[in-house]
Amino acid sequence: MKKLNIVDFIKENIDIICKIDKTSSCYNWTKNMFLNEFENKNSFFKILLSDNIVAGYIIYHIIIDEAEILNIVIDEKLKKQKLGSFLLERTVKDILNKNIKTIFLEVGENNIPAINLYLKFGFEQYNIRKNYYKNGENAILMKRQVKE
Ligand SMILES: CC(C)(COP(=O)(O)OP(=O)(O)OC[C@H]1O[C@@H](n2cnc3c(N)ncnc32)[C@H](O)[C@@H]1OP(=O)(O)O)[C@@H](O)C(=O)NCCC(=O)NCCS
Repeated sequence: MKKLNIVDFIKENIDIICKIDKTSSCYNWTKNMFLNEFENKNSFFKILLSDNIVAGYIIYHIIIDEAEILNIVIDEKLKKQKLGSFLLERTVKDILNKNIKTIFLEVGENNIPAINLYLKFGFEQYNIRKNYYKNGENAILMKRQVKE
């Protein structure tokens, strides 16, 4: 069985993160976008290691009592092996420990793998943002209420 660990992003990871993002995700962040997250004090940028190899990442923000997941990506070669579930489950647990009331996120309406993953972890749709993405795709806004 593979040994899974979640660690903080370090600058040495930037090239592998950009590569995983380009090959696995349709949102295509730039190197600067990742580095800005690294510098942002409200941002949590976590790397998933599988047997010490970078297998994916998650970025979320925390502002006062709200969290927002900006992105979660698993290496194309490692998808559908429950790594996304592991990373999201651990992240939600960490967020629960930080006195957060609600976790928000947005996802393209055609991104069925991600929508299914979020539904599985208790997120529900609360709105739609029309033509949100460059390609005209609508964004589904989802949230998970953690505390009243
Ligand atoms: C979304 C993503 C992170 C899921 O990671 P993963 O490791 O492949 O997901 P898991 O193996 O843990 O699957 C968990 C659940 O997600 C859903 N899912 C994952 N891949 C799916 C697919 N190809 N089709 C439909 N549902 C899928 C299923 O509900 C699955 O549960 P199941 O295996 O019991 O059916 C991955 O597909 C990815 O990196 N996508 C590109 C980046 C992206 O769009 N991120 C979201 C940004 S908002």
